[in-house]
Amino acid sequence: MPNHRPNMLFGVNIDHIAVLREARKINDPDPLMALSICAQNGADQITIHLREDRRHIHDEDARRIIASSPLPVNLECAIDPSIIDIVSALRPHRATLVPEKREEVTTEGGLDIAGSFDAIAGAIEKLKASEIEISLFIDPTRDAITLSERLGVQWVELHTGSYANLYAMRHSSLPHSHHAIESLNLSRSELDGRLEQAYGDIVEAANYARSLGLKVAAGHGLNYQNVTAIVGIDTIEELNIGQSIIARSVFTGLATAIKDMKVLCKR
Ligand code: PXP
Repeated sequence: MPNHRPNMLFGVNIDHIAVLREARKINDPDPLMALSICAQNGADQITIHLREDRRHIHDEDARRIIASSPLPVNLECAIDPSIIDIVSALRPHRATLVPEKREEVTTEGGLDIAGSFDAIAGAIEKLKASEIEISLFIDPTRDAITLSERLGVQWVELHTGSYANLYAMRHSSLPHSHHAIESLNLSRSELDGRLEQAYGDIVEAANYARSLGLKVAAGHGLNYQNVTAIVGIDTIEELNIGQSIIARSVFTGLATAIKDMKVLCKR
């Protein structure tokens, strides 16, 4: 099934504005102030993650953002029943179910659907009762997609973190992820092979998901360098990007950082 959307839908993840606020535990900068800037500069969606440890976005942020966003809000959350109850009551446009570990710096991999099938099915049932669109954040594998389709969700979001790490190791002297570079000591040709494989996995997973009728998003670690190849995959119809945009905005302002990425999202 081809994807006829001319441009990639573009979700901006604004968690990192709250990360900066939490560095001082005060009320500035307020992520709410990003909403109109995102809308005016080409974003199609606002993405936030209400983590169990509330390390950046708080319940009150989520409530205010959902209440006043001019764009649909995609709320990422764990499958824990207490979080799912909160998300059901908040009623964002979409909930993206993600795996969560308290000790991780960021979401390190996709959901273990086979290992938590019943718990995920329970979360989906509750969210559907509140008429919330549902996406599952998964690794780009056939098995994860087959199980996602079985769970009856509308969207899958493919985790692009492995691709992004390998891309940075191949193309930059600065590692994208310090964890990744320490654990992999590869030659240039090994790195090329791994990068090609990681990209091929995303292409294959997106095509397979689309053939099953799922809508396909992608995200994690995407930046102004590595995004172009992902935009070239026409069975992917949406990207969610946070860190690289907020990082650039420190130097350019948020409006320019969003506009720069929007240009790269055009097919
Ligand atoms: N999509 C999902 C499901 C995520 O968990 C994250 C990180 O919060 C992102 C996209 C954005 O990742 P990044 O901040 O690396 O662009």
